[in-house]
Amino acid sequence: MSDMTSARRALAARLHGAGVLARPEWRRAVEAVPRELFLRPGVFVPGPAGRWTPVPAGRIGPALAYSDQSLVTRLDGRTTTEDVVEAVPGTPTSSSTVPSLVADMLGKAGVEDGHGVPEIGTGTGYSTALLCHRLGAEAVTTVEVDPGIARRASDALGTAGYVPHTVTGDGLLGHAGQAPYARIIATCAVRRVPESWLRQTRPGGVVLTTLGSWPNGSGLLRLTAGEDGGGEGEFLGHTSFMQARAQVPPPLAGDLSARVADADGDRTTDLDPALLLGGGMPAFLAQLTAPGSRVIRVDGLGTVLLDTERGNFAHFLRAGESWRVRQGGPVAPWDGIEEAVRAWQAAGRPGIETVRLRVSAGAHSYRVAGHPALRWHHPVS
Ligand SMILES: C[S@@+](CC[C@H](N)C(=O)[O-])C[C@H]1O[C@@H](n2cnc3c(N)ncnc32)[C@H](O)[C@@H]1O
Repeated sequence: MSDMTSARRALAARLHGAGVLARPEWRRAVEAVPRELFLRPGVFVPGPAGRWTPVPAGRIGPALAYSDQSLVTRLDGRTTTEDVVEAVPGTPTSSSTVPSLVADMLGKAGVEDGHGVPEIGTGTGYSTALLCHRLGAEAVTTVEVDPGIARRASDALGTAGYVPHTVTGDGLLGHAGQAPYARIIATCAVRRVPESWLRQTRPGGVVLTTLGSWPNGSGLLRLTAGEDGGGEGEFLGHTSFMQARAQVPPPLAGDLSARVADADGDRTTDLDPALLLGGGMPAFLAQLTAPGSRVIRVDGLGTVLLDTERGNFAHFLRAGESWRVRQGGPVAPWDGIEEAVRAWQAAGRPGIETVRLRVSAGAHSYRVAGHPALRWHHPVS
């Protein structure tokens, strides 16, 4: 048995031991799909000073290929390991997802024999291959927005012996081709569930996606399609995925210090703004309360919460044991976030599993089960 094969089996055994490969079909899929084929032309691993160190495919050994970590394959939408020889700065835009997360999602989606499943966000094609192994490639459609990434994934899938329907285009539109589907699975994050996904899911079918507008504030949503084009959902845990292409916040134009120069209010808070970056429920509640905002930390300026579209901001400066918060724009974002986090603390800190979502034609409505004060209504324009 090759080193790659034994590493693959060892990974499957570890995931099974951790409870994420409860179903034998998925364990067999992880044991069968050679992840190394999906890592060409190479991956980037975290390097010095926030840079990314390229590791060409020929130097990817079993320990890296079968590590339970996300392996970045592209930076800034264009850079692959073929383009650089040294560590480079950049923002990851495609990767082979953490195997335990993929396996957990496939299990939670409740995929069964006979289901037709579109996957949104092909990436390297690794998770597509797992689906193909489980369902047969003819049942799987995978949609990737980036033509270069889509091409490489198709090649890798072919080399591994899988020929699913591959579509190059915007997965936020779903894929009407074989609709209605039993399941739609997204391996990129969305700020709201596209109406097309629910339209293309049969009543009782499931959309499984990461929902959120901040990397640290998102959650894994299982949404069951209703008869009326809407859906009822629950969150299954905290997850983080690359944001769907059209929903990535625009680059920050101009000088951030100029944007936060004119505050309408200035007060102190003893709620640590690091909560915004820390993940978990406070970050999840914050992005429900101030959707569309982002958190930026700048040396010399401090932490800034900024909603580029609306102009709302909160600027935090350490002041002894507490923080000074300067806010501006039509809505003071920290006021609402602080209120939500304190209400959540007073409610006994319920977990994300208690959050319910109703998606209707005009809105996403969130509530924390058993706590009527904890609710958010997001009209969808
Ligand atoms: C985290 S990667 C997917 C990883 C994949 N599951 C794997 O195992 O390799 C996310 C992918 O979603 C793609 N993506 C982003 N926005 C998209 C969109 N609107 N439609 C389709 N794909 C999209 C990105 O280009 C990227 O390749």
